[in-house]
Amino acid sequence: MNGLRKNLTQYGDPDFSLFLRKAFIKAMGFSEEALARPIIGITNTASDYNPCHGNVPALIEAVKRGVMLEGGLPMAFPTISLHESFAHPTSMYLRNLMALDVEEMLRAQPMDAAVLIGGCDKTIPALLMGAASVDLPALVLPTGPMLVGHYRGEVLGACTDCRRLWAEFRGGRMGADEIEEANGRLAPTHGTCMVMGTASTVAIMCEALGIALPGSATVPATHADRLRIAEQAGRLAVKMAREGGPRPSELLTEAAFRDAFTVLQAIGGSTNALIHFTAVAGRLGIEVDLRAFDALGRRVPVLVDLKPTGQHYMEHLHWAGGVPRLLRELADLLSLERQTVAGVTLGAVIAAAEEVPGQSVIRSRANPIAAEGGHAVLFGSLAPEGALIKQSAASPALLRHEGRAVVFDSLEDLARRIDDPALEVGPEDVLVLRNAGPKGAPGMPEAGYIPIPRKLAQGGVKDMVRISDARMSGTAFGTIVLHASPEAAVGGPLGLVETGDRIRLDVPARRLDLLVSEEELARRRASFTPPPPPPGAERGYGWLYRQHVLQAPEGVDFDFCRPPQRGGRRVTP
Ligand code: FES
Repeated sequence: MNGLRKNLTQYGDPDFSLFLRKAFIKAMGFSEEALARPIIGITNTASDYNPCHGNVPALIEAVKRGVMLEGGLPMAFPTISLHESFAHPTSMYLRNLMALDVEEMLRAQPMDAAVLIGGCDKTIPALLMGAASVDLPALVLPTGPMLVGHYRGEVLGACTDCRRLWAEFRGGRMGADEIEEANGRLAPTHGTCMVMGTASTVAIMCEALGIALPGSATVPATHADRLRIAEQAGRLAVKMAREGGPRPSELLTEAAFRDAFTVLQAIGGSTNALIHFTAVAGRLGIEVDLRAFDALGRRVPVLVDLKPTGQHYMEHLHWAGGVPRLLRELADLLSLERQTVAGVTLGAVIAAAEEVPGQSVIRSRANPIAAEGGHAVLFGSLAPEGALIKQSAASPALLRHEGRAVVFDSLEDLARRIDDPALEVGPEDVLVLRNAGPKGAPGMPEAGYIPIPRKLAQGGVKDMVRISDARMSGTAFGTIVLHASPEAAVGGPLGLVETGDRIRLDVPARRLDLLVSEEELARRRASFTPPPPPPGAERGYGWLYRQHVLQAPEGVDFDFCRPPQRGGRRVTP
């Protein structure tokens, strides 16, 4: 069944169900002719709490225009909207809730294809997770990046420069008036963070996967071209509705994920993207092997010169040729024969890439920003199931480092003691934060960017080795080891570290080790008591989350959202 006949409400009489549905929808003024068309669902992720989605109403209008031009019936519907700064305790805690919402609304309502409008970090992953589970023909339309801001002759971007300026303020090098003035310049337009944060990374990877139109990741949110892409997305969705595909399962293959992870390494993208796309792949029964991801990173250099790894912003990447031009540099590593949602192969997308004379944002493989990819996966006694470091945003001098652990037991403990003048800590020490993983915090907040203790920051210390079971914003920088798995709250070795222990980080060897004897660790393990469940975990969503959330190497998805038949399909280098 298609169109309005699809997914009828059940009363035991399908003809009556359709009669009733039409009676109600006609209250909106639709004619019989309009109601006979293919229906295109459009996710409305606009919210007064989400400035990254401030252009969604205009995008919906443009998508609707495209749908109408092609003879379809556009139907926008609301979903949960998540903004990074307006989601307590953290947007990651709610990503799976949004994915459940999207999945069930795509399934419950009549539609033949969908345009998935999202942007702020967790929204596109949630949209894709839901769409992958329903396997409805769909394409992603990102809201697009903000334009850059300016402050006293400096170009600024959310939110790498938010962190940099805040560190300057904490270090006493910026006054209260100055930081307040800069606060109004960091996010000057609608759209997503314009550095290589999670939103930019996810949008770029959607182009690489072939589930978003060429150019749709990088055109600024406020640019007319974004509306034209939205119109094109609407037109395309009608074609997909008529042809019954391509469906997510046809586009999001092992080869597509391998290409997307290749691009993730080449852009020095957000560490969060590994978790999100592992979750999306998991919805399709595809496992992501962390060692394979690391092996990709050894072959793929960082080519894109964007903050926080480099110096430019998303609009500059766009005018340098955008994702298709980047893909051209990586062409020999990609599956060029793969079909994309645009109806052409990835090879054809690359062939049509714009060549911009003199651009310096997208480097050649012979002249990379960094010889190895952005991310390295570490294993060792402190992370038996893996940990991640964004080596392209780390201090080269700290990539091999041994130091004394200074342990914080929780986010509250961190907030209480990090700036205590009595805290015994030096620049060579290793800051450890635990109980900030998927179950521990809960929601694996972006707390891995542990602040440099104020007394050290004021002394000019800009980076230290920091280790946690938390995540980190893609906009952050530093020698920061994340996602240590299993997390402390479920008995991972991070929970056994004591202040004063020695920790060795060796990124070239991909090792992260706690230099404590096995006998001593066994003694500590025997007396280990997990932290009590966080408030809210005894009922409702908090209960569901705590019972079913998986660890970082499985994408922090819910166990019951993965297909029952898994295994055999893996992303390999
Ligand atoms: Fe929305 Fe950065 S806060 S993309």
